[in-house]
Amino acid sequence: PIKIAVFASGSGSNFQALAENVRDGRIHASIELVVCDKPSAYVLERARNFQVETYTFSPKQYASRQAYEEEIVAMLQAKGIDLIVMAGYMRLVTSVLVEPYYGRMINIHPALLPAFPGINGVGQALEYGAKITGATVHFVDGGTDTGPIIAQQAVQIDDQDTLETLGARIQKAEYELLPKVVGWIAEGRVSLDGRKVTINN
Ligand code: GAR
Repeated sequence: PIKIAVFASGSGSNFQALAENVRDGRIHASIELVVCDKPSAYVLERARNFQVETYTFSPKQYASRQAYEEEIVAMLQAKGIDLIVMAGYMRLVTSVLVEPYYGRMINIHPALLPAFPGINGVGQALEYGAKITGATVHFVDGGTDTGPIIAQQAVQIDDQDTLETLGARIQKAEYELLPKVVGWIAEGRVSLDGRKVTINN
């Protein structure tokens, strides 16, 4: 089974969805580690409930992003991590992380990329007046939410939607989309050629 590290900064409900799929045998993988940049994040409690090891760091205590990423990469390599899943990890990454893990690092974003990248993807779509938005899982490259797209799930925007109601529907879509993609990767079905992603049978 492939070894996964989940990076998260907040509630960790996507970690939860992934961990339940792994626990129930729907994904043939093991979650080895949760990496978190916020000591108070609820994802850490969820990780403990699943007996997943955690690594928490405070970015302020480092001279640069590169400095803490070097530590993280060393740890990931020591643990033999095959796949990094960014699930609500709210930090930009540098080449220190991207170079060794390009093609083995994915991110979930709460919009249909390339629309509404960056922070507050849900609110951006609402503000813009879009009628359809959704969730995207993509490989991470050096840009902000610019990497090759693996899969997307559309979500309709209703006239009555607020940040809360729309956000909740997008999250529901995420809890299906992210485990589905991780399952494909665990089965060795996802190939990447330039920007082109193919899902093999
Ligand atoms: C998710 O909705 C994810 O798409 C979003 O953060 C949320 C984390 O929720 N990610 C981004 O906005 C990345 N720019 P969670 O901590 O409950 O999984």
